[in-house]
Amino acid sequence: MTCQTYPASSISTSVTGQASARPLKVVAFLCNWCSYAGADKAGVNQLAVPSELSVIRVMCSGRVEPTLILEAFQQGADGVMVLACHLGDCHYKEGNFRAYSRFELLQRLLCQMGIHPDRFILDYVSAAESDRFSTLTSGFVSRLCTLDKLPV
Ligand code: FES
Repeated sequence: MTCQTYPASSISTSVTGQASARPLKVVAFLCNWCSYAGADKAGVNQLAVPSELSVIRVMCSGRVEPTLILEAFQQGADGVMVLACHLGDCHYKEGNFRAYSRFELLQRLLCQMGIHPDRFILDYVSAAESDRFSTLTSGFVSRLCTLDKLPV
């Protein structure tokens, strides 16, 4: 997929008309039953978790409506993550399948809006995967820094 994209920070800059260095804002929607528990375990195990993360706990990834993703970007998020139970492990049967189908549509929509599709990810973290949570979140923030050409 090819599209013309702009850094999220330049979008907010064009709205305000002022250029300013600011810390990254990353919104992470975490499913209560798996990824939030994985994040909790990462904290207990004292694993590295980026300070840029703003966690929003949801009961299921299937409850994260596309409007919430778009609103996060509209409010100035540099990146948005949805972390769900692994496929087949959703506590509400098919919520993460819904999240997956929305993810594909949203990536195309974001591209059309001039937001790089790499600024939005859907991934899977179980309650036992604190290492995976730490790696995914740190990797995502590093990727956003690359997109913004900010020092990592
Ligand atoms: S309960 Fe975790 S994705 Fe549905």
